[in-house]
Amino acid sequence: MITNRQVVLKRPPAGMPKAADFEIAPCPMPPAPPPGGLLVRVIALSMDPYLGGRLRGRHMGEPAPAPGAKLPGFAVAEILESDAPDFAPGEFVVTETGWTRYAAIPAAGARKVTPGPAPLSAHLGVLGMPGLTAWAGVTQLAKVGPDDIFVVDAAAGAVGGTAGQIAKNLGARAIGIAGGNAKLALVTNTYGFDACIDYRAEGWQAKLKAACAPGPTVHFENVGETVLQTVFPMLQTYGRVVLCGLAEHYHADGNPPVLPVGPIVGKRAAIYGLVVYDFYDRLAEWHAIALPWLASGQLKFHEDASDGLESAPAQFERMLRGQHLGKAIVRVAPDKP
Ligand SMILES: NC(=O)c1ccc[n+]([C@@H]2O[C@H](COP(=O)([O-])OP(=O)(O)OC[C@H]3O[C@@H](n4cnc5c(N)ncnc54)[C@H](OP(=O)(O)O)[C@@H]3O)[C@@H](O)[C@H]2O)c1
Repeated sequence: MITNRQVVLKRPPAGMPKAADFEIAPCPMPPAPPPGGLLVRVIALSMDPYLGGRLRGRHMGEPAPAPGAKLPGFAVAEILESDAPDFAPGEFVVTETGWTRYAAIPAAGARKVTPGPAPLSAHLGVLGMPGLTAWAGVTQLAKVGPDDIFVVDAAAGAVGGTAGQIAKNLGARAIGIAGGNAKLALVTNTYGFDACIDYRAEGWQAKLKAACAPGPTVHFENVGETVLQTVFPMLQTYGRVVLCGLAEHYHADGNPPVLPVGPIVGKRAAIYGLVVYDFYDRLAEWHAIALPWLASGQLKFHEDASDGLESAPAQFERMLRGQHLGKAIVRVAPDKP
């Protein structure tokens, strides 16, 4: 007999969500798809920084889930049964299933994916929302080209690692900032950045200045105050800054960083706020570039996977603490039953 399970919120998180805020609960196996919808088997869950804020009612105005509610979140899943004309059993989709093994979901919002030069789970990372975020920031906002010196932090992550590789493939010099030796090795050896600086090491500011001399023309910001206040003064005149994420502030006390207005004027800098939702209907444009790059080896990605739905709370806490390497996912079931 097939058994279903889900991860539910045990208590409202106080500060950064922790594994102990969640519990695994049995739940009924959905007997059939909803009218016009899909019955799916979850293959992999996406662990994303925004979910930490969403659980605390701090993401794009969405209310926090109540204790006892299934954790929200996106997954790649196989269709078992379909009541929707455009979807068939055996096809794969990326959709919001929440943290569960089996889900009965509406077809609206489900996006079909196929295995290709990368595994299905890559549609949660380099070929999914984080990859699209990187593409949008690099090519649509900052419009990076061969003359650019591109600096990105959280450079080992799904967004930062992809952003630097896109910049590099467009001819720019790509410099990463990341925390710890394992991340540095991934960024330089696997992703092929020109350099990566460990911002936890003594004297990192001087090393960064030397690596991006005569100064970055583009800064893609994922972390917050620690990096931004160091990189912004190095920015060249007419430099561009893409504000994508503020990971160090999501669960910290105190206020997010403030950029001084005077130096923005002095540098004639352009500051772009990035919200990936604005680019969701352009995913095919990113895929048209990314799929050949993946096939030729010009684009690399790294997954940090834990196994089994039961591992999701601990994997989520690791991801929120920044202890993962690359794109954090939970493998709930094999691609093939
Ligand atoms: N604007 C948008 O539409 C959009 C869309 C997707 C993602 N984002 C944002 O883009 C950023 C990168 O996303 P991602 O999925 O690729 O995540 P990620 O880079 O894999 O994870 C966040 C990274 O931030 C760094 N970090 C620094 N201080 C931290 C702290 N106090 N707590 C936790 N992490 C800290 C860590 O890397 P180091 O150890 O290397 O510092 C950590 O690995 C995130 O801020 C995310 O919220 C924005």
